[in-house]
Amino acid sequence: MTANNRVVLSSDHAAIALRQAISAHITAQGWVAVDIGPTTPESTPYPEHGAAAARLVASGDCALGIILCGTGQGIMMAANKVKGIRCGICADTFSARMIRQHNDANMLSLGARVVGEGLALDIVDAFLAAQFEGGRHVPRVAMIEALEG
Ligand code: RB5
Repeated sequence: MTANNRVVLSSDHAAIALRQAISAHITAQGWVAVDIGPTTPESTPYPEHGAAAARLVASGDCALGIILCGTGQGIMMAANKVKGIRCGICADTFSARMIRQHNDANMLSLGARVVGEGLALDIVDAFLAAQFEGGRHVPRVAMIEALEG
């Protein structure tokens, strides 16, 4: 676990229940879950919620972020528009581990209409447990950052 153990969570309306389950799950592990909602079921645009979570990670307020929408795709696209964010979408635990180890991902996106709760929690566990390997991956991540301008 990093020195900053704050993990921001956000979603759109399609993923509230799964987001709250993840929040409880990681809280039980000792992470500080910064759950920024929403909490009510009205339709709400995923870009706003992805960007809000991404800004908390980009600023350093939170070390990592977990974001969700129906597919995980739209909110991931929005988060990746924020400078400094490397957000990967995962529907398997191998990818969740690798985006940390090789890509130094600082955010994870999940599709609440794609993965069930059990798999989602395993994916979250894999993401949070993994560490960036550095080494040959450092210049590659730097090349991603260079694309941000
Ligand atoms: C909402 O219906 C849905 O479009 C959204 O949750 C997400 O899947 C978008 O990528």
